[in-house]
Parts: sequence; C-alpha cells; structure tokens
Amino acid sequence: MTDIVLVAAIGENNVIGRAGKLPWRLKSELQHFKRLTLNRPVVMGRKTFDSIGRPLPDRTNIVVTRDLARPAKGGVLALGIDAAIAMARKDAALRGVDEIMIIGGSDIFEATFPLATRLEITHVHASPAGDTYFPPIDPQVWKSVSRSEHAPGPEDEYGYTTAVYRRR
Ligand SMILES: NC(=O)c1ccc[n+]([C@@H]2O[C@H](COP(=O)([O-])OP(=O)(O)OC[C@H]3O[C@@H](n4cnc5c(N)ncnc54)[C@H](OP(=O)(O)O)[C@@H]3O)[C@@H](O)[C@H]2O)c1
Repeated sequence: MTDIVLVAAIGENNVIGRAGKLPWRLKSELQHFKRLTLNRPVVMGRKTFDSIGRPLPDRTNIVVTRDLARPAKGGVLALGIDAAIAMARKDAALRGVDEIMIIGGSDIFEATFPLATRLEITHVHASPAGDTYFPPIDPQVWKSVSRSEHAPGPEDEYGYTTAVYRRR
C-alpha cells in the first residue's frame, strides 16, 4: 500500500510559517527534508510552492490550486486535493516508490491529515510567532515509532527532534 506521509517542521506551539516563509533558519533540517523527499512525488499548496520559489529538484512537484490558469512554473498543477493525490499515486508507481510526500502548508496539511498513514515531524525546540499551524497530533490516534535529537548545527537557529508517527 502507498504511504501518505505528512512532512513538517513544527514549533512547540505548532507554528509552521510566518508571513509566507518559515519562521526559523535550520540548514541541517533542510538536508533531512531533502533525504525524506528525494525521488518522490511531493504535494504542496500553491503558497508553499511560491514561497520555495522554484520546483524542488529530483522530485515531482504537484501544486494544489483553485486556478489552473496560473503559470505552472515547473510544477504540475492539481485542481484539488483528490486530483493531487491521484497524480502523486501514479507518479509514485512510475518511480517505483511506495510513498507520497505531503509537504504543506497548513491548508494542505489540514485537508490531508485524515488520509495520512505516517507523519515525519521535526519538532523545533522553539515557539516562534507565526500565522500558519500544523494540526494537533492526537496521541490516541498517532503512535511515535522513532525519535532522534539534534543539537543546533553551525547554521541552525535552534535544536530539534525528528520524530516518526504511525496511526495506531
Ligand atoms: N514548517 C513547515 O514544515 C512548512 C511546510 C510548508 C509550508 N510552510 C509555511 O506555510 C505557509 C504557507 O502555508 P498556507 O497554509 O498559507 O498555504 P498553502 O497550504 O501552501 O497554500 C494554500 C493554497 O493552496 C491552494 N489550495 C488549498 N486548498 C485547496 C483545495 N482544497 N483545492 C484547491 N486548491 C487549494 C490555494 O491556492 P490558490 O490560491 O492558487 O487557489 C491556496 O491559496 C508559509 O509560511 C510556508 O513557509 C511551512
């Protein structure tokens, strides 16, 4: 079965974004994100795609929007969540991988949370101000199956814990 994986870095206050950007600078965490998503389909909201500013290389960038007339700018546009997931499933099969990576932002995390089979969460050791949030991770529904602590590297603003959750 294809895993539907939500990949997010979240603050202790569940913040994920501020003013269209990430609310922290965590270079080593971006490497972790790259390892998780490389050679896979990545599904994201149009605002997240615009915020990254370019298609993520070596991944199929599937961008959810209500406006198919907009320039695709190297991504594949999908008119809704269901269309995006269907495209991602086909792409995963073509690539011979068994997971679809959902990479935000909050609209897309909210909409796909009920479908998710795994969460790859970076718990950032900070509570920055923000305007976009990850949904609460209910411990009655989600079981933490692995955790790894990371002290801040030379180009990281904060330390963080990477954690994997699976549905109980
Ligand atoms: N910390 C993290 O892990 C992380 C990850 C990703 C993003 N972020 C942050 O999150 C923020 C962006 O998130 P966001 O929640 O504001 O925006 P978003 O989810 O990235 O994108 C929202 C857009 O997606 C489209 N959309 C949403 N639901 C749709 C649906 N059901 N059908 C069709 N289109 C739909 C719409 O695009 P149109 O307006 O084009 O119709 C909507 O404006 C930024 O600050 C970013 O840096 C953080």
